[in-house]
Amino acid sequence: MRIYGILSTLVCGTLLAASTLVGAEAQTKKLSDDQMAHKDCLGCHINITPGIVKQHLDSPHANTKRAEEEVRCHDCHGQEHTTMEDFAKAAMPTAETCGECHKKQMKQHKSGKHNLGWMVMKSQIAWHGQPGSITEQGYRGCSGCHKIGEKGLLGVTDGNMGEITHDGGKEASYYRYGNAQCDACHTRHSFKKSEAKDPRACSNCHMGFDHPQWEMYTSAKHGVVWGIEGHEEDSRAPTCQSCHLMEGDHEVRTPWGFLGLRIPTKENVLALIDVAPSLKDPLTKLAAALPTGNYMDVDDDPQWTFDRALILQAAGVLDASLQPTERFVEIVVQAQAARGPEEFNTIRTQMKANCNKCHSKGFVDSHFKASDEIIKAADHEFAKAIQAVQGLYRDGILRVPEGWKYAPDLLQYYDAKTKIEQELYLIMLEYRQRTFQGAFHASNDYMHWYGWAPLKTAVNTILEEEKKLRAEHQAKK
Ligand code: HEC
Ligand code: HEC
Ligand code: HEC
Ligand code: HEC
Ligand code: HEC
Ligand code: HEC
Ligand code: HEC
Ligand code: HEC
Repeated sequence: MRIYGILSTLVCGTLLAASTLVGAEAQTKKLSDDQMAHKDCLGCHINITPGIVKQHLDSPHANTKRAEEEVRCHDCHGQEHTTMEDFAKAAMPTAETCGECHKKQMKQHKSGKHNLGWMVMKSQIAWHGQPGSITEQGYRGCSGCHKIGEKGLLGVTDGNMGEITHDGGKEASYYRYGNAQCDACHTRHSFKKSEAKDPRACSNCHMGFDHPQWEMYTSAKHGVVWGIEGHEEDSRAPTCQSCHLMEGDHEVRTPWGFLGLRIPTKENVLALIDVAPSLKDPLTKLAAALPTGNYMDVDDDPQWTFDRALILQAAGVLDASLQPTERFVEIVVQAQAARGPEEFNTIRTQMKANCNKCHSKGFVDSHFKASDEIIKAADHEFAKAIQAVQGLYRDGILRVPEGWKYAPDLLQYYDAKTKIEQELYLIMLEYRQRTFQGAFHASNDYMHWYGWAPLKTAVNTILEEEKKLRAEHQAKK
């Protein structure tokens, strides 16, 4: 009762305030159709969903600087639904709805990595193998985080081998909720800028198994200082946002990306021929499809190129003869999981300039140099383990499971059939990730004890297991 009373005062108060602001003249006139519709929504919803009404009335949308810009329920939900029964007619907003008034942010968001989140998830066979309750309805697991991406982008999975196209709203129409994207950081119905500027706003997604950026940030000096000094917006320490949405730019993307991979250059691949002359033909063919240039900061040598090629092969992105597969097209080209030299260098330069606001150039260079080298060292360990498992397949000790196109296949995740391949999967998604992500985010514990240390353990386990499997195979003969 009491809450209802307070809320209705609030509703009347705001409507009154709104009409006062329109000007004295307007007060004598009747409320406009717009205001009437809004009053109806509020009047009924104060009983139906009082929390939403309160949040809306407290939000910047209900308290705009200019009264005539006030945003109302029906600006986002339309006016089709007006009664207790016809609420299925209420429209649910998409990012385009927000974009009608916030063109700049929508444009930036749409050209960034977040917009590809749904598509990149669907590029994974591991997603398609799960029950619908996990993947679709209710947004549990993968879909719950990846709904920050746009639905309806068509890639190889949907039969499109070329550039990404759009299905014009078909896929989005299967989902009543969860197409709004922007509410991932500005939650409804407050839609506040201050909320989105707080690093905790990223933490429900950027945490856990394969991307613990929240844990790494809060266990590194940057997050510690941010915590001690009262979570201030203009903290002496940088936040996720001040490093990744610099100047409020909504287009997120990093040089190395989630997987710490890069597209090999023509030069990288041709340099391999000297080391492995027998592979001259496939390497020359592969090089023809690749960009040319250099990655700044990065110390490329043929060994590293070779190690990375093995990783791409184990992920089915390059085939047995090192040629790009349909996964290369979907994951690397369409969903942009790895960058070429030009893009890598542009983002790296921006990021370093940002660090340079607080640290010296030399300090920043040495931090990036060490982190890049850590990826190189981790890749070398990983490649040893991959070669061991590939050898088992080559020698007929492991057999390609039914329905698998590639083997070993890192993208089968936890559906891998043998212990040795389960270890390989953990290296890819957990240990190697934490090693380099921890290095970049200056979290020593994640870099070492949750990253490098279990990575080494897993490689040793794999090499031991390989010996055992070979001995067993020999004994059976
Ligand atoms: C006469 C009462 C009434 C009026 C007027 C009304 N609504 Fe509703 N609305 C409801 C009821 C009842 C529901 C269903 C609530 C539930 O399922 O818990 C609902 C649900 C909704 C939903 C959620 C729909 C869904 O599928 O989850 C939205 C959005 C909505 N209303 C917006 C509006 C807007 C915008 C207006 C004004 C144009 C408005 N409502 C006017 C009663 C009303
Ligand atoms: C700035 C745009 C915007 C305005 C204004 C707005 N909404 Fe919403 N509303 C949203 C978004 C975004 C969602 C989530 C949609 C989704 O899940 O895809 C939503 C969802 C809802 C839902 C269903 C989900 C839930 O949490 O129950 C209801 C009910 C609702 N709004 C009611 C209202 C009412 C009533 C008002 C006015 C007081 C209002 N909305 C004003 C953007 C808006
Ligand atoms: C009908 C136009 C309109 C629509 C649609 C709209 N907004 Fe707004 N939005 C505004 C206006 C006007 C302001 C306030 C500008 C001012 O006066 O400060 C604003 C402010 C904001 C702010 C800044 C709030 C702050 O704390 O300063 C955010 C964030 C925001 N909107 C997000 C959204 C999102 C997300 C959606 C879609 C779910 C959306 N808006 C839909 C008009 C709109
Ligand atoms: C807790 C939220 C969450 C869950 C659950 C989740 N993801 Fe992600 N996923 C993310 C985030 C955040 C990133 C980006 C992390 C980064 O760049 O370090 C990401 C990245 C990815 C990428 C790499 C994108 C790229 O371009 O490199 C793929 C592919 C992916 N996820 C697929 C999946 C699949 C498939 C599942 C379920 C089996 C899943 N995710 C479950 C949050 C989640
Ligand atoms: C990844 C989190 C994230 C997502 C997703 C996101 N925003 Fe933002 N948004 C932010 C942050 C952080 C700021 C504050 C930027 C700053 O001022 O430094 C912000 C600020 C804004 C502002 C206020 C701008 C200003 O200067 O007053 C608007 C408006 C806005 N966002 C709209 C949107 C719209 C529309 C979408 C969807 C297309 C969206 N945002 C999606 C994080 C996000
Ligand atoms: C609703 C979940 C969600 C929230 C909240 C979220 N993200 Fe993300 N983020 C993702 C997913 C999923 C991806 C992977 C998308 C892809 O690769 O296409 C991602 C990718 C990224 C990337 C790109 C990494 C790369 O591949 O280069 C950056 C940077 C990023 N997010 C930063 C942030 C920041 C900063 C915030 C908070 C202001 C934030 N995100 C909030 C889910 C989220
Ligand atoms: C001091 C700046 C800084 C802060 C603060 C920061 N990051 Fe990063 N982040 C980086 C750098 C540097 C990289 C690696 C850049 C590269 O690829 O060269 C990175 C990489 C990433 C990536 C890609 C995968 C990875 O981890 O390497 C994501 C996603 C990401 N950060 C999200 C976040 C989130 C979420 C937060 C807050 C919890 C955060 N970052 C805090 C600087 C920062
Ligand atoms: C807004 C200022 C600011 C920005 C921007 C910033 N830092 Fe920092 N950084 C700090 C502060 C404050 C500390 C803690 C005090 C100290 O150690 O100097 C710190 C500490 C560090 C440390 C030392 C951690 C330790 O445990 O000793 C590293 C490494 C570091 N920053 C790297 C970076 C990198 C790389 C970037 C850019 C990606 C960056 N910082 C951006 C303010 C900043």
